[in-house]
Amino acid sequence: MISFNTVYFIYLVPYYIEKNLVPEKNSTSNAANPFMRYIAAACIMSNPQSPKGVVPNVVALEVLRKNGIDIDKLIKLITAGVGAEFTTYYYYTILRMHCTGLEGEGIKEIVEDARIEDRNHFEAMVPRLYELGGSLPRDIRKFADQAGCPDAYLPDNWEDINSILKVLLEAEQCAIRSWGEVCDMTTGKDPRTYDIAQRIMQEEVEHEAWFIELLSKRPSGHFRRKFVGQSPHTGDQGSLIHL
Ligand SMILES: [Fe+2]
Ligand SMILES: [Fe+2]
Repeated sequence: MISFNTVYFIYLVPYYIEKNLVPEKNSTSNAANPFMRYIAAACIMSNPQSPKGVVPNVVALEVLRKNGIDIDKLIKLITAGVGAEFTTYYYYTILRMHCTGLEGEGIKEIVEDARIEDRNHFEAMVPRLYELGGSLPRDIRKFADQAGCPDAYLPDNWEDINSILKVLLEAEQCAIRSWGEVCDMTTGKDPRTYDIAQRIMQEEVEHEAWFIELLSKRPSGHFRRKFVGQSPHTGDQGSLIHL
């Protein structure tokens, strides 16, 4: 009787090698590079469960480990952070819709700036999540459940504009704590993640200031963005090619 191993090595390994290799660029031959065949065979035999998309050693991650970064913990923090940005974008949409009347219309544009910039934060950090070996949960319900900040629900007494401003302020303050944790963990160790997180932090600090100023009437250095959702700090990060 032919065993599974016999079938695997005689039929499946050559099949997977041919399936996963293409001739070298600029080669006149239709055959794959023999050296690459050898590498592919070694990879497939060492990982028979995943013959497709074998990931080689990632030096960018090796360096982080050498610098003392707990990559699994960082991935968890970032997934929670981008989850909070995404859910905040959703809830801010509802909050903005309820900024009506003489007072509400006056702050609608500020809420919209914060809403779009929080969406931009999601876009700016998600590519880094994948570089680190993480990924977005397949199910959006799971994604929302693991978000690092509470849901920014529309308050029952939303006709009082201050009640909406308090919800907005708490959401921004949670985001500052959340990205602050990522900055603390990566400073001096993971310059790439730190750079994106600190850019997000700068905008979160501005968002907090906007809502504090609206609530407290303290003097303000804030003036309007050049356009809605400008993201002056994160605008050229990640997937934000539309900005
Ligand atoms: Fe944000
Ligand atoms: Fe924000």
